[in-house]
Parts: sequence; structure tokens; C-alpha cells
Amino acid sequence: MYKRKDSYFNKAKQQGYRARSSFKLLEIQEKYKLIKPKDTVLDIGCAPGSWLQVVKKLTSGFILGIDIVSVKSIKGVEFIQQDINDFKTEKKFNVVLSDIAPKTTGIRNIDQQKSYDLTKQSWDAAKTNLKKNGNFLVKTFQSQETQILVKEIKPFFKLVKTYVPKATRESSKEIYIIAISFNPS
Ligand SMILES: C[S@@+](CC[C@H](N)C(=O)[O-])C[C@H]1O[C@@H](n2cnc3c(N)ncnc32)[C@H](O)[C@@H]1O
Repeated sequence: MYKRKDSYFNKAKQQGYRARSSFKLLEIQEKYKLIKPKDTVLDIGCAPGSWLQVVKKLTSGFILGIDIVSVKSIKGVEFIQQDINDFKTEKKFNVVLSDIAPKTTGIRNIDQQKSYDLTKQSWDAAKTNLKKNGNFLVKTFQSQETQILVKEIKPFFKLVKTYVPKATRESSKEIYIIAISFNPS
């Protein structure tokens, strides 16, 4: 497990990414092509900014990151320091990403519930701010509620999948919901 952790950590450092999570997005992008060259992208829970670094390489479109903690600036990327719960914008995006995660307590039920709430808030933001045919990617801690959320999201997209990237730590309970081609109803 530690070998795996070290290899992604070192790879991130070598390639100038701020966090190993960059490789999760790169892997998902390779498989599902969520982000296209001119797409506008909202990245929820973006600190320290490694997904923003990846997104910047993939699109020339407008990129907005939001997090409760600050992010060292990235050229060509806008950032708002705010709780996702308070986030409101008139802007619409081609892609909404959310790698949001709570501060964990180590108590599984509490952490799952907190993660579920954040995932749900990300979905609310995506539902409001996604353009037609847009894509949505969100992280959640696996629980009984994961499938309930998937069921709720499914009718709004052409395709909805769950996926655990290779770069995820073996001990982690996180899973990503990938939703392709939004159709607001
Ligand atoms: C795993 S990190 C994201 C890593 C990021 N994708 C990257 O590659 O750099 C999860 C982030 O969610 C943020 N977060 C947690 N609760 C939040 C909330 N209510 N509103 C906005 N961001 C939140 C945390 O501050 C943390 O930075």
C-alpha cells in the first residue's frame, strides 16, 4: 500500500502537480473524455488545485474553482473561497467536477454522512449550473446511500457510472460518480 501511495505522490511531485489526486482525474479523463478543448469548467472542493492544473491543460475555456480553504493562484483560473452551500452564480458550465471531501473523524458513519451531504450539495450545484449535454463528476464515500444518489442522478443523464480510479488508496472508501450528457427536465 505504501509503495503505491509513494509512487503517485512522487509522480505528482515530478510532474509539478499539487496533489496525487491529479492522477485520478487524468485517468477518468482518459477513459470518459469528460472535458473538451473549449469547455467551461466548475471545480468544487478544488484545493490545493491539482485538478485545476489538469483542467487548465485540457481546455481554453473559463475555469472556476471553489473551496472553503484558499488556493495558490493558477494563471487563467478563477477561484472563490466559499462554502459550496453558499455558492450561487448565473454562469452555466459544460463540466462540473467535485472532488469534495469532509474533514474525517475516523468514525465511519459520521464521515459517510458528511461526505453524502457534500456530494448532494455538489449535485444541487451541478443541476443548477450545468449546460445541456454537460458532464458531471463527483466523489463520495461509499455507503448504502451511494446507490440512492446514483438512482437520483440517472434520469438526468445519458449515462451514469461509478468508478474507482487506480490512483485511489487501497484503504480508501471513496468512489466517483461519472455522469455524461446532462438533460435538464
Ligand atoms: C480531496 S480535496 C480536493 C483535492 C483537489 N481535487 C485537488 O486535486 O487538488 C477536498 C476539498 O474539499 C473541500 N471542501 C470540504 N468541504 C467543503 C465545502 N463545504 N465547500 C467547499 N469546499 C469544501 C476541502 O477544503 C478540500 O480542499
